[in-house]
Amino acid sequence: MLASELSRAQTTGRRPDNQPHPVRAICVTSGKGGVGKSNVTVNLAIAMACQRQRVMLMDADLGLANVDVLLGLQPRYNLSHVISGERTLKEIILTGPEGIKIIPASSGIQRMAELTPAEQAGVIGAFSELGDTLDVLLIDSAAGISTSVLNFSRASHDVIVVVCDEPASLTDAYALIKLLSREHGLTRFHILANRVAGSHEGRELFNKLFKVAERFLDVTLNFLGMVPEDPHLRKAVKTQQAVIQAFPDSPSASAFRRIAAQLKGRPMPYAASGALQFFIERLVNADYHAERL
Ligand SMILES: Nc1ncnc2c1ncn2[C@@H]1O[C@H](COP(=O)(O)OP(=O)(O)OP(=O)(O)O)[C@@H](O)[C@H]1O
Ligand SMILES: [Mg+2]
Repeated sequence: MLASELSRAQTTGRRPDNQPHPVRAICVTSGKGGVGKSNVTVNLAIAMACQRQRVMLMDADLGLANVDVLLGLQPRYNLSHVISGERTLKEIILTGPEGIKIIPASSGIQRMAELTPAEQAGVIGAFSELGDTLDVLLIDSAAGISTSVLNFSRASHDVIVVVCDEPASLTDAYALIKLLSREHGLTRFHILANRVAGSHEGRELFNKLFKVAERFLDVTLNFLGMVPEDPHLRKAVKTQQAVIQAFPDSPSASAFRRIAAQLKGRPMPYAASGALQFFIERLVNADYHAERL
């Protein structure tokens, strides 16, 4: 590679062959609510940033414990202002710990699959400008099987299903995986066991889901790892900080770092469509979903 090409790639973020920079889109979801999705997303985002990845976190859940609340941030604008043309995408993005970029929650995010063609073009254009500045897009999605969860999961390269050791969490996770595989053609899922007593319990929880999924569904489940039940995490939530920052030596913080390293070590599933622009196109373009089935 010529030195001039290398330095251009470093300053523009663009690869010397002029291909758009790949951005890995990872959707964090769950069957049941309250299992720890938002904490998983925020802490993984910070852990990945510490591993020198450029991370953007999209808060796609309108629930109460939003990402901005978890991190003590006060967003003034959100994606609905970008869709309406009042603000640019760059103007609504917040900066969190370790420089992570955050798109705050808004009804605009839920509306992504129902935009007019002009709105679609605007949003795709805005995101494609950001693509070269990012390596990972992490999405904190809502729980359950709403249209928005399905759309984000389908558009992402990786889907992380968070489960905890409660019967409803497992049965709802199974129902979500079944719907995403049978109706929407997804076949690979990462399973993260949260709030477990230790690694053995985490693996056991995974095995329960794995056994039924293997028997009745045509899917591949990967055990991404476990995060233990940790009072430090609850303490950090109360002070509006991520546990990985407030208590970096705590058991949950170490678990998040391990999981981030695991994810980094796994190749991106379909690299050809890795540009951020393609993720947004998949998200807003209903026809794409039909084609993929
Ligand atoms: N590993 C853990 N150890 C201890 N407590 C935890 C852990 N993970 C989550 N919690 C507790 O569960 C609460 C809910 O977590 P969180 O808000 O991340 O869940 P969620 O799945 O995003 O919820 P929702 O479905 O409402 O968006 C936290 O505020 C915390 O008190
Ligand atoms: Mg949440």
